[in-house]
Amino acid sequence: MPSAAHSRVPSAPQPPGFRMPPAAQVARLMADPLGFYEAGRRRFGPIFTLRYPGLPPEVCVATAELAEEVFATDGGPGRAGEMRRAFIGPLVGEESLLCLDGDPWWRHRRLVSPPLHGRAVASWADRIAEIAVAEAARWPVGVAMPLRPAMERITLEVIIRVVFGIEDARRLGALRTLLPRLMRLAGSAALVRIPPNARERALASPLLLRAGVLPTTRYVRARDEVDAILYDEIARRRAEPDATAGASDVLSQLVAARDEEGAPLTGREIRDELMTLLAAGHETTATSLAWTFERLVRTPHAMDSLVAELTSGPSAARGGSSARGDSPTGRGGSSAGRGETSYLDAVVKEGLRARPVVLGAPRLLDDTAKIGGYEIPAGWYLSASIPLVLSDPEAFPSPELFRPERFLAEASSPEAVARANRAWIPFGGGRRYCAGAQLALLEMRVVLAEVLRRVTLTAARPEAEKRRLKNVTLVPARSALVIARPREGGASW
Ligand code: HEM
Repeated sequence: MPSAAHSRVPSAPQPPGFRMPPAAQVARLMADPLGFYEAGRRRFGPIFTLRYPGLPPEVCVATAELAEEVFATDGGPGRAGEMRRAFIGPLVGEESLLCLDGDPWWRHRRLVSPPLHGRAVASWADRIAEIAVAEAARWPVGVAMPLRPAMERITLEVIIRVVFGIEDARRLGALRTLLPRLMRLAGSAALVRIPPNARERALASPLLLRAGVLPTTRYVRARDEVDAILYDEIARRRAEPDATAGASDVLSQLVAARDEEGAPLTGREIRDELMTLLAAGHETTATSLAWTFERLVRTPHAMDSLVAELTSGPSAARGGSSARGDSPTGRGGSSAGRGETSYLDAVVKEGLRARPVVLGAPRLLDDTAKIGGYEIPAGWYLSASIPLVLSDPEAFPSPELFRPERFLAEASSPEAVARANRAWIPFGGGRRYCAGAQLALLEMRVVLAEVLRRVTLTAARPEAEKRRLKNVTLVPARSALVIARPREGGASW
């Protein structure tokens, strides 16, 4: 926690907030997080304070401009790592990019970022496509099926094979079972509800770890099984540097990486970063894909435009996309001009906007920060509310509509597109901007394209799916229930 030395009486007022007791605020937040944030915006405007029992107050902001001010604290008093350590530390470890701050964070970020850059991940497009096609080939025809677990299988396979670089069939099989179990146990209410001190004690006590009924023991056993495989893979790559030189998977690149002093990451640091990429990149990407399909099957004009682009020949389907200069599926070829956004790109952006999966990008302040004319004291949380910024009607007119055209210069004015892009913060911002954003965007483009070229999807029920909080992500309440059928004249399997 921030030192008391920084705490002083602020000279400016703090943002307004509800008068109800902190216990009532947390109850409303747990029951309906989006509704509660919306109520805060309606009542107080774009910056307000929420209070929870036993925790520092949280200042939430709801516009792009204020979010930029929050992200600017990354260069000063904002601590994102300390904020996350309490709830995700046991899974990802103390040496994780998610949980570090200051110089140790920067050292890790510099080593973890290069293998996840746009150009590096673009080379994975064909393997991601293979994984997506193999998954879709197994779907039942003409009956309701939940897409979120299907998307989880795809994104898990991408992490194991592309990020961890594991191809050995026995290990692949083991990790396919072990990793979901580990994530389930780490996020289980039984484990999360144990107060951090008691949890630390239970995790460190050999005696308590013999009690198989305890959630901490079940978790540690699953973690140890996963760790045994990961440490073995790390040792194997260290022992065979020539065999892994030039390998494109993240694990091989982390083993080869050296910091400014020429020092490699330790085995523990690499293990923690692998768990970080799993924890940060698996469910988020799968849920974002599930939501994008959920929106598409309820927005016929968007589905028709997308399918027309994807099935109108290789040039249009693979044609130029985006300011990043990638093709829409990330799979080579570029017929349209650079800087243009394909409809597929616009669908991905709108999916992430209309149904963001992450609730906020919070920072814990270790010194006062001035935001929107207010002075926020040291020791408070300061958070860019991702769903509020992404539904700000100033940036996204009629925010409740799924309208990919809002990102297309030919359908909206350049000013409107610029405004929308500025407020588009599904991946957070500042120095702590999502390290896996390029991989997530590539996965979304490739999976949407490969699936929709081969199958038609319709909603299993007409009504939109409600948003439900699962651990810290917002998931579709019915797991994106759809009916799939082979597309007539669709791409080959
Ligand atoms: C659609 C999918 C994803 C979404 C919506 C998402 C969103 C986010 C958000 C909101 C943050 C916090 C940013 C902030 O505090 O300003 C974050 C951080 C992070 N994400 Fe993602 N993410 C996604 C996929 C991925 C993937 C695929 C990976 C890697 C495999 C990844 C790795 C990370 C890491 C390592 C961080 C911590 C960065 C740091 O603190 O320096 N994410 N992500």
